[in-house]
Amino acid sequence: MGLLAKFGDALAPRGNIDAAAGGRIAGWALGRSPVRVEAWLGTNRLLSCEPSITRADVAAAFPDIPGSNCCGFAFDLPYQEIGDDFLGELRIVARPTKPWLPSTTLATLHLAGPVATFSLASPPDSGISGPFPRRVIDAVSLHWPEDCADLLTAAGQRQFVDRLLWIMVTPDLNAMPIFADYARYLSATFAHCRFVERHFPQTNRTAAPDSTDFHCKPNSIRELFAIIHQLYVLKSWGVEGEFAEFGCFKGYSSAMLSYACRQLGLKMHIFDSFEGLPPSQGAGYEAGQYAGSLAEVRDHVSRFGASEVVEFHKGFFADTFRDWRPPRLMCLWMDVDLEVSARDLMVVADQLSPEATLFSHECTAAIFQNGSIVTSPSPDNPIPPMLVRHDELGRPLTGRYIAGYTGAFWPRQGGIPVMDTDVLMHLVQKLA
Ligand SMILES: C[S@@+](CC[C@H](N)C(=O)[O-])C[C@H]1O[C@@H](n2cnc3c(N)ncnc32)[C@H](O)[C@@H]1O
Repeated sequence: MGLLAKFGDALAPRGNIDAAAGGRIAGWALGRSPVRVEAWLGTNRLLSCEPSITRADVAAAFPDIPGSNCCGFAFDLPYQEIGDDFLGELRIVARPTKPWLPSTTLATLHLAGPVATFSLASPPDSGISGPFPRRVIDAVSLHWPEDCADLLTAAGQRQFVDRLLWIMVTPDLNAMPIFADYARYLSATFAHCRFVERHFPQTNRTAAPDSTDFHCKPNSIRELFAIIHQLYVLKSWGVEGEFAEFGCFKGYSSAMLSYACRQLGLKMHIFDSFEGLPPSQGAGYEAGQYAGSLAEVRDHVSRFGASEVVEFHKGFFADTFRDWRPPRLMCLWMDVDLEVSARDLMVVADQLSPEATLFSHECTAAIFQNGSIVTSPSPDNPIPPMLVRHDELGRPLTGRYIAGYTGAFWPRQGGIPVMDTDVLMHLVQKLA
C-alpha cells in the first residue's frame, strides 16, 4: 500500500458548507497545507477561491492546524456563466495546492437558478392528472415532463416521487409554498400517525382476550395513510365536500384521520351505532362486537386526534339515514364488516361528489384485477353493495389494493386514482 493510500484520509482537507441558498455558498475548508475551494458543474470548473474569512469557531476546534483561524469562504455563483434558469447539481471541492495531496468533496448541492425558481411559483396548468396534488404535478411537469409521463403506474409514480424528493432537498425550491405545504402536511400527519400507533390504548377491556375485538387498533398506518394522502390530493383538485368515516370502534382510525382533516380545514363526520355491530347473517361476527361508547370515542379522538373538526352521528345506519342525508362528501372510509351495514349506508352515495374516492376495509388484493373489481356477495362482504349502488348511479368504480384489508375505489370516469402504497410510503419516510 502506498503512503498516500495509507495516510490519504489524514492528509485530505476537511470542511463544511454552512449555507447554500440564493446563489451564495458559504463554509470553511482546512488542510495540513494550503487549500483552494472549487465549484464544479459536471466537468466544468466554475470558480476557485482561497479561504480567507476569519473562523474563530474552527480555530477553537482545530487549534493545532495552521490557518484554522481564517479558513472561511463565501462566493456567489456566476449565473451569467451557468444561466439563471439552471437546475442541476454543483460539487464543492477542497483541493490542496500541492497537487499530489488528495482533495475532498465537501458537498454535492442541488441548485436552482432564480429564473427556474420563479417559474415554478406559478406554473401553467399542465393538463396532466394523477394521484398527486394538482399544482405539484403542474410545477414538476414544467421542467421535468419526462417524470410526469406515466403517473397511473407504480413505476411512473416512483419516477415522479424521485424527482419530488430531489426538489425537496433543493434550497429555494423546497421553500416554495407548492412544495413546502405538501411536505409539511405529509411530515406532520405521518408523525401524528406514529404517535397514535404508539400511545392509543392497546386492548378492549370489555372484550375477552380470544375475541376478535380484543385489540383496539385494527388498522395499520400503511392503510390509513393512503386516505390521509388522498384527502390532500382531492382538495388540491378542487373536489368539493367533507369527509365521512363509517365504523369507528374505539376511535383509532378516527384519531389519525381527524388530525389530517384539521390540517386541511376539512370537516369530518363519524357515523356509528356506538353499540357495536348490528345483528347479521355474517358467520364471522356477533351483534354488539366492536362496541365503543360515544363518550369513550369522543375522549379518544380529543386526546389522540382533533375532535373539534368532528361531528359524531350516533345510530345504526338504517335509522340514521331513514330520512336524513349528510352534506356533500369528497371521500368516505367504511370499516363496517357487514354487507347489510354497507347496504344501509350506501344511500349516502347520492351525496358523493362525482370525483369522490371511497376506501373500505374487508378487501383483499385478489379482488382487484386489472382495474376490475371481482367479488361476490356474502353477509361478511361490504364491497358488492358499494359497487351496485355506483352502477345504479351510472358511476361504475375501479380501484386498487392498498394494504392489510383496505382497498380504494374511484369512478372510472373522472375519478382521481389513489397512489401505489409502496411509493407513498417511500415518499413519506424520506420526508419524515
Ligand atoms: C371494525 S370496527 C371499526 C374499526 C375502526 N375503523 C378502527 O380503526 O378502529 C366496525 C365498526 O362499525 C360499526 N358498525 C357496523 N355496522 C354498523 C351499522 N349498521 N350501523 C352503525 N354502526 C355500525 C360498529 O359499531 C363498529 O364500531
